[in-house]
Amino acid sequence: MTLRTQINLLIALLLGLFLGAVVALEIDATRRSIREELEASTRITLQLLGTVIADAQARGAGITPRTLAAFLDHLGRVRANDIELLDAAGNRLYQSPQSHYKQGRDAPAWFVELVAPAVQTARIRVSGGMVTITPDPSRSLVDAWDSLSSLLWLALAFFACVHVLVFWLAGRALAPLSAFSRALQQVERGEFHARVERFSGVEFGRLADTFNRMAQAVEESFSLRRESARRAEELRENRAITALIQQHVEEERRALARELHDELGQGVTAVRTIASSIAHRARERAPELETNALAIVDVAGQMYDAMHDMVRQLRPIALDNLGLADALRELAASSRQRTPELSVDLVLRDELDGLDEVTNITAYRIVQECLTNVARHAGADTVTVVLGRSPDGAELEIEVRDNGRGMEPDAIGADRMGVRGMRERVHGLGGSFVLESSPGSGVQVRVRLPIHEENPA
Ligand SMILES: Nc1ncnc2c1ncn2[C@@H]1O[C@H](COP(=O)(O)OP(=O)(O)OP(=O)(O)O)[C@@H](O)[C@H]1O
Ligand SMILES: [Mg+2]
Repeated sequence: MTLRTQINLLIALLLGLFLGAVVALEIDATRRSIREELEASTRITLQLLGTVIADAQARGAGITPRTLAAFLDHLGRVRANDIELLDAAGNRLYQSPQSHYKQGRDAPAWFVELVAPAVQTARIRVSGGMVTITPDPSRSLVDAWDSLSSLLWLALAFFACVHVLVFWLAGRALAPLSAFSRALQQVERGEFHARVERFSGVEFGRLADTFNRMAQAVEESFSLRRESARRAEELRENRAITALIQQHVEEERRALARELHDELGQGVTAVRTIASSIAHRARERAPELETNALAIVDVAGQMYDAMHDMVRQLRPIALDNLGLADALRELAASSRQRTPELSVDLVLRDELDGLDEVTNITAYRIVQECLTNVARHAGADTVTVVLGRSPDGAELEIEVRDNGRGMEPDAIGADRMGVRGMRERVHGLGGSFVLESSPGSGVQVRVRLPIHEENPA
């Protein structure tokens, strides 16, 4: 049921109760006034007849029924009383005439039942007959009924007017609610641009302002959320692409390293062996040739070492053959060889075999880049590398810290790729990368990589 109908029903109920009370009071007052009127008119009639009879007796003549009938006939109707004169045998000698007032009309029976007072017939005995006086309330009842009907018709008209007015006013006053309801339904459907107009009333005006502010805030936060979800998706895609690129780069490097090692390595070894044999054979007969051949042996040896270095940089063979732990030991050893003034401490807290290919190569590249950075930038005399599994075994933790000059982490040049590359690699795999340092206090890199076991036991 709409609020408008409820208001109308409530007003109808209140008006109905009020009208009922007025009608009840009116009926009560009518009943009392009719009774008083009848009593008064009966009293007057009795006094009148009493006086006439007493007067006749005083004159010594007394009054006969016939004389009384003539008097009554002359008198006519006395107010609301029916007067009858009967002789001693019960024959009617006189009957008062009917009232002409509103003749032919009567109040409805239920109204008569409700309002009519109980009437009592008064009797006066005269010699040779009897007069009966019976009050007749029917005319008063018609009057009362007429005035009550007028009142009811008036009330009905008033009732109808009030209803129409209230219905119209309630419709006008509650019109903003429909606008609010429409706007709320729009918001429910996700149409956050929904607004309501500024209504003229104070309460609805304030409500409209509050609603519009709320809708605006929801719209903004929703578009922010959409935007940040879009950015997060973009970031996820970028990281996936970075991880894919890294994977391809590593595969290329591995293929290149194998080619270098197998093809060029074999060739250089062959050149070295042949030059060495030429030098051996030319030692007696052609010393100049021997010198040249030995030079070739020397250059071939250097080429072989350089090639080996390149192969190690491109792809740590030990990683494929011996696993992460040995590859890291080899990396630490070659770092010590290249920079003997830097002490490299490698601490492997746990068994690191069985990790997947991507975790292995990522861990190796991170340690490699960190050691290179320490050697190139730190001016440190100690670097400590610690690797181990997290307590729940789900992550590989890597920490590299040196005691060098430190750096300003936020001031890395845009053209520098090492730190950025490490961070992107780690994020691409869903891990975390933290570099902490301040000038003069060394650098500490902490990485956590999710572990995917290669060969679960
Ligand atoms: N261990 C460290 N101690 C002091 N400074 C460092 C250390 N590691 C990095 N830095 C500083 O941070 C900068 C960024 O390092 P990053 O590895 O990104 O670049 P890079 O080593 O200079 O060049 P590349 O791109 O070849 O790695 C370095 O240029 C250096 O100034
Ligand atoms: Mg670097």
